[in-house]
Amino acid sequence: MSSFVVEMKGINKNFGEVCAVKNGHIQVEKGEIHALIGENGAGKSTMMKLLYGLFPHDAGDIWVSEKQIKNMTPKRAIDLGIGMVHQEFMLVNELTVLENILLGFEPKKGLTVDFATGRAQVQQFIDQYGLDIQMDKRIHQISVGEAQRVEIIKILSRGAEIIILDEPTAVLTPQEADGLFEILKKLKADGKSVIFISHKLDEVMKISDRISVMRQGAYIGTVQKTETNPAQLAQMMIGREVFLNIKKSEVNSGAKVLDVQDLWTSGEKEISKIRGISFEVHEGEILGIAGIDGNGQSELIEAITGLRKVEKGKVILAGEAITNLSVSNIRAKGMTHIPEDRNKRGLNRALTIWENIIATHIGDQAFSKNKVLSLQHSIDYANELAEQFDIRPRDVTMPTQSLSGGNAQKVVVAREVAMNGKLLVASQPTRGVDIGAIESIRSILEKVKEQGTGVLLVSADLEEILSLSDRIIVMFEGKISGTLTASEATDTKLGYLMMGGKTEEAAHA
Ligand SMILES: Nc1ncnc2c1ncn2[C@@H]1O[C@H](COP(=O)(O)OP(=O)(O)OP(=O)(O)O)[C@@H](O)[C@H]1O
Ligand SMILES: [Mg+2]
Repeated sequence: MSSFVVEMKGINKNFGEVCAVKNGHIQVEKGEIHALIGENGAGKSTMMKLLYGLFPHDAGDIWVSEKQIKNMTPKRAIDLGIGMVHQEFMLVNELTVLENILLGFEPKKGLTVDFATGRAQVQQFIDQYGLDIQMDKRIHQISVGEAQRVEIIKILSRGAEIIILDEPTAVLTPQEADGLFEILKKLKADGKSVIFISHKLDEVMKISDRISVMRQGAYIGTVQKTETNPAQLAQMMIGREVFLNIKKSEVNSGAKVLDVQDLWTSGEKEISKIRGISFEVHEGEILGIAGIDGNGQSELIEAITGLRKVEKGKVILAGEAITNLSVSNIRAKGMTHIPEDRNKRGLNRALTIWENIIATHIGDQAFSKNKVLSLQHSIDYANELAEQFDIRPRDVTMPTQSLSGGNAQKVVVAREVAMNGKLLVASQPTRGVDIGAIESIRSILEKVKEQGTGVLLVSADLEEILSLSDRIIVMFEGKISGTLTASEATDTKLGYLMMGGKTEEAAHA
């Protein structure tokens, strides 16, 4: 008999030809934070979906609180005290926060929903765990961080004792992630068990008690946090050493490829309105944009790429004004874009990998014969990119829906980079991808630059900004608070500018 709250042994799961998990294994103790790590497509989400009963497993045994469970279903899992916050949230946009939390589990007074009781119950969790949410807002009005807290309350209110979080920090700012960790610590102090999937090894080292590693569907091992380090974890995940510090090539910057002049736009929030921003990107240069999320970075990128109206000012691409042109017009003129939200803007999840890849080539001579799309040519092209960008599994006729999170991101990166534009706008290009893929996406961006394309890079990851950019601009409340060259930039100086400090003062920071 075991003393584990969750035990999964010898788990196998195939999806058709694809083997997602083979001999999967995990043992979770009561009151621990257990990290589950592994490359994109390693089978982490699948293991957890099997535990939650979202689909049946082909072989192996699952115990929950020392009871063997044969036919797990989500209903059964909830009854057993398991709650799961998925990689892609599952909230209903049109409903309020409170309605979402109660959905399907509404307290009733006779036949009607007893909202007063529901509200009081939810308030209790808010107070107990210090979760900052607004119950009467609709989902589309709240931030991603808040939506995640809503998901957490939702499962807590259903009695969850075992809490699965699938890459909860991929969509959070560093500040929001710290907030989430505080919540996790309180859950742990209350005796709840947390299974936490992440690609960020520094986070894993910060928050977890034990760490289990998977590679290509298989179980590799479990280590105590206090007895391991990021290098060992990376080695276990990938089977080789990883070098995130890529060698920056000399800037060979040429003509101005992007010229933004005194740009003004509206903002999602007051502090994210763009108020008079000017900067340039040259051929063969990576310009990084740093800043605490929500200081106008997203709005700036939307304005440049044609997704948000420019109220005042100019955007000039390779000498040609593109201010307020349509997205397709701007793309036709040579701007490519890896958007920050791959689900909203990057991919059509219902289409196959090849369809998503050639979506931007519809109408190209090379892809059609007598205006009819050449299927063979399209698939060949997609196969080539899948190979080059290591999209797994290597079957471009699969719907992108069935790809792991990180591989879906690779599809977007592949498509945009292969367009060979004059300017590549890369927003959070490595969000949700594993360290092996981060290494490869970063060296791809470096190559793009060497070929003479200008790159505008936005990343919430300071380390990424520092390791790739030739110059860095820092945004604060919709303005540029400072500009630094790669050689002068440091964590501290950037941090100082990100809080609204001035460049001259940052020099002494
Ligand atoms: N519904 C599905 N249909 C077909 N294949 C699937 C399905 N779900 C997952 N797979 C495949 O199973 C493998 C494991 O996927 P899984 O989502 O578990 O990976 P992961 O470790 O969570 O990766 P990531 O870090 O990228 O999210 C992948 O090859 C994936 O393409
Ligand atoms: Mg996953």
